[in-house]
Amino acid sequence: MSEDNRLSVVALISGGGSNLQALIDAQAAGLPIRIVAVISNRADAPGLDRARHHGIPAEILSHRDYPDRETYDADLQRLIDRHDPGLVVLAGFMRILTPEFVNHYRGRMFNIHPSLLPKFRGLHTHQRALDADETEHGASVHFVTAELDGGPIILQARVPVLPEDDAATLAARVLEQEHRIYPAAVGWFAEGRLKLGEDGRPWLDGEPMPEP
Ligand code: GRF
Repeated sequence: MSEDNRLSVVALISGGGSNLQALIDAQAAGLPIRIVAVISNRADAPGLDRARHHGIPAEILSHRDYPDRETYDADLQRLIDRHDPGLVVLAGFMRILTPEFVNHYRGRMFNIHPSLLPKFRGLHTHQRALDADETEHGASVHFVTAELDGGPIILQARVPVLPEDDAATLAARVLEQEHRIYPAAVGWFAEGRLKLGEDGRPWLDGEPMPEP
């Protein structure tokens, strides 16, 4: 049997897991990744069933069982590292992470955020884009750093904001793009084309990526 050279990936989720599904589908279509575990901080996250359905170990580590962020993140790190992943993907993982945790995965943890960062960090991005009368909105994949939604941006997708939009219609348009750009960015990393440079910027194919 030939050696499996695919990148091993651990995905962290809290909810529906449609971005996780996009990665599962991309793996099935030949992206050189192997999702080795899905971990949720919520036992009722529907994304756990997506993992189980595809035979991926689905694990729950509830933040409610921990007195503080530090002890939770320390156990989460232990759980993740048991799988020895080459990449950790945050796929709708709704937790603020400690700097220790983030530093441990420096250069090998991605997040997807539903806005054109640096605009609209944090929650309720779609409503905030509407309230700000934006004509354009979108999603960003970035390396995770200690600054919330502030890490170096790898890839963005833009969508128009239409006059008849509400937060739900806008979110759906953005989500469709998330499902495209997350596997694309993960694929670059898996192929060894993408790295976080010493300069703190993402490098693609040996060149620093232009600021978006
Ligand atoms: C996505 O909009 C993602 O950008 C944000 O949380 C949402 C998760 O959706 N971080 P899903 O669980 O992947 O369906």
